[in-house]
Amino acid sequence: MTDIAELNDYGADRTLFFIFGATGDLARRKLFPAFYSLYREGKLSDRFAVIGLARRPRTNEQFREDVRQSIQEFGRYKGEEDKQWEKFADHFHYMSLDINKLEAFQQLKGLADKLDDTYDIGGNRLFYLALAPELFGSVSFNLRDGGLLETKGWRRLVIEKPFGYDLPSAEKLNEQIRQVFNEDEVYRIDHYLGKEMVQNIEVVRFANAFFEPLWNNKHIANIQITLSETVGVEERGGYYDHAGALRDMGQNHMLQMITMMAMEPPSRMEPEDIRDEKVKVLRSLRIFKDPEDVQKYVVRGQYSAGEMKGKPVPAYRSEEGVPSDSVTETYFAAKVFVDNFRWAGVPFYIRTGKRLPVKTTEVVVEFKNMPENVYFSRKTKLEPNLLVFRVNPTEGIYLKMNAKQPGSQWGIVPIAMDFCQSCEVGINTPEAYERLLYDAARGDSTYFTRWDEVALAWKFVDRIESAWREQSTDLHSYSAGTWGPEAAVQLLAKDGFKWWPVNGQHEGEVVWATPVTTK
Ligand code: BG6
Repeated sequence: MTDIAELNDYGADRTLFFIFGATGDLARRKLFPAFYSLYREGKLSDRFAVIGLARRPRTNEQFREDVRQSIQEFGRYKGEEDKQWEKFADHFHYMSLDINKLEAFQQLKGLADKLDDTYDIGGNRLFYLALAPELFGSVSFNLRDGGLLETKGWRRLVIEKPFGYDLPSAEKLNEQIRQVFNEDEVYRIDHYLGKEMVQNIEVVRFANAFFEPLWNNKHIANIQITLSETVGVEERGGYYDHAGALRDMGQNHMLQMITMMAMEPPSRMEPEDIRDEKVKVLRSLRIFKDPEDVQKYVVRGQYSAGEMKGKPVPAYRSEEGVPSDSVTETYFAAKVFVDNFRWAGVPFYIRTGKRLPVKTTEVVVEFKNMPENVYFSRKTKLEPNLLVFRVNPTEGIYLKMNAKQPGSQWGIVPIAMDFCQSCEVGINTPEAYERLLYDAARGDSTYFTRWDEVALAWKFVDRIESAWREQSTDLHSYSAGTWGPEAAVQLLAKDGFKWWPVNGQHEGEVVWATPVTTK
């Protein structure tokens, strides 16, 4: 078993990275810039190489130029103006490969063995599949049959979501992969787990004396998780219409964030101990038994035409690749129950959607009100205490409390402590993909999802999907540029709660994201 503290002593070097899908969007936007940041920060030494793989023919030089451009466009560090670029670019190689042909993999083995020698890599191989999941199985078989796994170092498989379409398809996929790789060699990416503030949830919870004792149903009224996006489905209509918001964001990112909020402290900070605790949370999720429960606790919506930043935008059904009668949800909100000793009775409200007014990710913990007897006689309405994890775009932690209004006039005012990490000068937070690539190369699987987590998440999602498939619940329409269906507001209102504004962006509400000043 790997101890995280020990892992920190090792860099991510001595790795031969195979990037399948090297001409695709993910490689361009995320992976190449991530390599360069790691290199610039000394986390990759000179003993590494990258083989870009895709069907399209490309020379090494052309490939390096693609990499340079992607870094220029998307990187935290720009390649052009610094001297290290040439040295870095020399580590990138390209091979055109038809993933269905075993001979191509045999040829790839030749190149891999050669680069292994040249860069003194010691046989460590990381296969990154930035490909459609239907291809994971056949690529794994060809890696094995092409002899690429016969190596004296370690080998790891990194795969992107979606991991399946439902539980049966995920099981099939997993079964194929597991014929070739052991579970501890499989790194399933959920890029939300690589985000700075998502990782910070654990630290804030377990390293502060004043949160953990209150972290339960005696003191917390509800937890709200919002992942809102302004984008529509862009050029991904074909994929998205098949998936929908629940599969695209709920099954993975949102349930993972629930586990981070709800898990018990692990006995040791080791990847398997942490993941064991997360699995216990997923096991405690209440599975909705019948369509009535789905109707009651889950709201689904689809955007109609509207306006974003003053410009008209089309309805989802008019987007490219989307059928004009599509019933796929672009929004969902749910009341999730974690039925265990700590959380019984505390709703976890989650919502996500495309074409909402702002791009943001926030987690709000709303604490229960104080018994109001002390201040009640003074006719003061106490606002609940809030602890907010701001994940995106601002990274920070926000705490809202009550204090005496300064001066002789008696009153209580909400005050805020607002720590904005991303506003600190000199903090240039690594991108999620930098951390994840680095962790995978170091063998730290903490922020990757284990098979049992994936399976349990599908189990939860599948029940909702089947109710939707039978069309036994409503599909609400919402105008692009608004906060989604009114039914999502009612979901909380029925319990006496409301969605707290994210980034102070809700129209017509008090902007509490800045410290409240007193008169
Ligand atoms: C992806 C989804 O997993 O996450 C996309 O497939 C979504 O639909 C994206 O846009 C959001 O990620 P981020 O990091 O921009 O919040």
